[in-house]
Amino acid sequence: MGQQQVIAIDGPAASGKSTIAGLLAARLRVPYVNTGNMYRAITMFALDSGIDLKRQCSGKVFTPLLKKLKLEYVRNASGEYELLVNGVPPGPKLRSPEVAAFVSPVAALPGVREWLKDIQHDAARLGLIVMEGRDIGTVIFPGAKFKFFLTASPLERARRRLAQSGETFDGATLESVARDIAERDRIDSGRAVAPLKPAPDAEIVDTTEMTIAEVINYLAGRISNGRS
Ligand code: DC
Repeated sequence: MGQQQVIAIDGPAASGKSTIAGLLAARLRVPYVNTGNMYRAITMFALDSGIDLKRQCSGKVFTPLLKKLKLEYVRNASGEYELLVNGVPPGPKLRSPEVAAFVSPVAALPGVREWLKDIQHDAARLGLIVMEGRDIGTVIFPGAKFKFFLTASPLERARRRLAQSGETFDGATLESVARDIAERDRIDSGRAVAPLKPAPDAEIVDTTEMTIAEVINYLAGRISNGRS
């Protein structure tokens, strides 16, 4: 497979991927695709459809559900690409702790991952893109031109998640957030299909001691070197 015009950014929960990927894409003036939001959109759709995901989280439940769901990336008035769920923006609920509580088991379902593959591949028609997730460099675009795996220490990741308003339950503490993140990592890394892991040819960037601007500058520098 030849090189694909994709900047793949993978990494564990709350490693700062979304912030970095969004800002990097803006700096490079290319579309940004957040695949975690696609898994969240499917989870939200299931909850809104009345599925009790605590008891029923299986391929059998999702096969008929996905037939009623359309996810697409469209260009909005400000020129940014945004996710539409059955034609409408999903709103803040997408990043709510209620959705986050169920998204890892949903993302572990092979049928759900397979369903999203075509939608994610289709984004490559936009030209050079930044795509962020867990398996972009390993499974979705193994031929991506640039691959980064962003990490940070568990404590730093818990601090970052706690600082993101609206993404944690009321009363959350550093300890409870660290526990939730560890559980997400455990499910994401342990699943049979497309587990969270760096691609062999990905560059691992430990951002624990780095500011956002430092990470962006570093990645942009690596990309401009690789382009020349
Ligand atoms: O990046 P995020 O926290 O929004 O991801 C939400 C969940 O979706 C997380 O449990 C991992 C999963 N995910 C995945 O399995 N594969 C991706 N490409 C992106 C996210």
